Amino acid sequence: MAANVSTERRVSLHGEWSSRFAFILAVTGSAVGLGNVWKFPYIAGENGGGAFVLFYLFCVFLIGLPIMVAEISIGRRGRRNPVATMALLGSEEGGSEQWRYIGLLGVLAGVLILSFYSVVAGWAAAYIFKAGSNVFAGADAAAVDAQFDALTGSPLVNAMWHTLFMGMTVIVVANGVERGLEKAVRILMPALLALLLVLLGYSMVAGNFAAALEFMFAPRLGELTADAALIALGHACFTLSVGMGAVMAYGAYLPDEHSIGKTSCAIVFADTIIALLAGLVIFPIVFANGLDPAIGPGLIFQTLPLAFGQLPGGAVVGTAFFVLLTFAAWTSAISLMEPGVAWLIESFQLSRRVAAWSLGLAIWLLGFLSAFSTNVLSNLKFWRGTFFDNLDHLTTNIMLPLGGMAIVFFAGWIMSRNSTSDEIDPDAGPSYRAWRFLARYVAPIAVLLVFLDVIGLLDAWGLA
Ligand code: PFF
Repeated sequence: MAANVSTERRVSLHGEWSSRFAFILAVTGSAVGLGNVWKFPYIAGENGGGAFVLFYLFCVFLIGLPIMVAEISIGRRGRRNPVATMALLGSEEGGSEQWRYIGLLGVLAGVLILSFYSVVAGWAAAYIFKAGSNVFAGADAAAVDAQFDALTGSPLVNAMWHTLFMGMTVIVVANGVERGLEKAVRILMPALLALLLVLLGYSMVAGNFAAALEFMFAPRLGELTADAALIALGHACFTLSVGMGAVMAYGAYLPDEHSIGKTSCAIVFADTIIALLAGLVIFPIVFANGLDPAIGPGLIFQTLPLAFGQLPGGAVVGTAFFVLLTFAAWTSAISLMEPGVAWLIESFQLSRRVAAWSLGLAIWLLGFLSAFSTNVLSNLKFWRGTFFDNLDHLTTNIMLPLGGMAIVFFAGWIMSRNSTSDEIDPDAGPSYRAWRFLARYVAPIAVLLVFLDVIGLLDAWGLA
């Protein structure tokens, strides 16, 4: 039975999206989140902007996009949770059931990511109230810093916001992903975009916009270190939610007739615009106030409040901004849980409610390692730094790129041409051929090169 490629269409075990638009919204909700607004600016700042940003864009379009197309196609073809889908297609396409471990790695990555993601989302939620109570009015950089330190420095407060955010996430996942999500994303994404444009106006007028443009886009290609390249690659996966089965799980609920290629392009484009916009809002404020762009994970929390403190109506704008950021994080968090929850339901015959609450409980407990990384455990450093830093590095920069590479390799080399073109474009037109070229050669080789560079082999071979 090995190479017997099925032509029968399977149906999802968890229902389907009501329309293509609903699917676009859900995947966009997964992609757009803290990665765009919180993480992109701070890692661009830490890695010197310029070359880092350009390499990130390269990774997004030539590695992340083909992985996304591969993941959604695999998801829709298998119509199971990512673990079962990889096992099913693995044996169906003549490979082996052991591909299930790529699915399991993804489930684990989702759990680990959400454990620290939830803590940062908690910061965003806490800032809704800080901005709303007008504590930032006229505040200088030191006062704004003090607010951030008070929040992250308190184990209790930090843990409380993390708990609240995890609770909100589990409630939605327990009720079935498709219900609440559609409505939320439909309103939120345009609102977030609009608010970023308002803030862009502020930064262009009141910030040092020229310095920001130069910082973000001046190529300085020689400055890209191996470590920075790995972080850019990892972030390209993180921001697009690829490499761990999140969009594979969502693809399983996508009706057959919708185009995966066009949908993915639209989502990748939107995600990139939001990240670049966030950078263009934040860096002008950084440079106008003489702040350090490499300040780290607190960057947006230590810069944006300065703008809210000076803007007329800043309390309202600030509150709205953090509400939207919290929602954006929420729709991403939901997708981080979905592969694990779908897997638990299908493998152990659990109800969605039990699966969501059990997995949520585990993630919540694990999250304390990150919630305490900025206070009681801040001196406990190993490898990359605190627990928080290590969880982030391990998942974002190692698990996602390797998972993504395995997935795109699977779609490019293990699955038959017929199977992938059946999902992506039955006529196998130019865009399908472009995808296949990226999936077979460009994406896996590029990921491999970045890893070889990091372990120093390119240098040793005289190639870097
Ligand atoms: N893409 C999300 C963000 O940029 O915030 C984070 C994320 C969600 C990563 C889902 C991975 C994932 F599977």
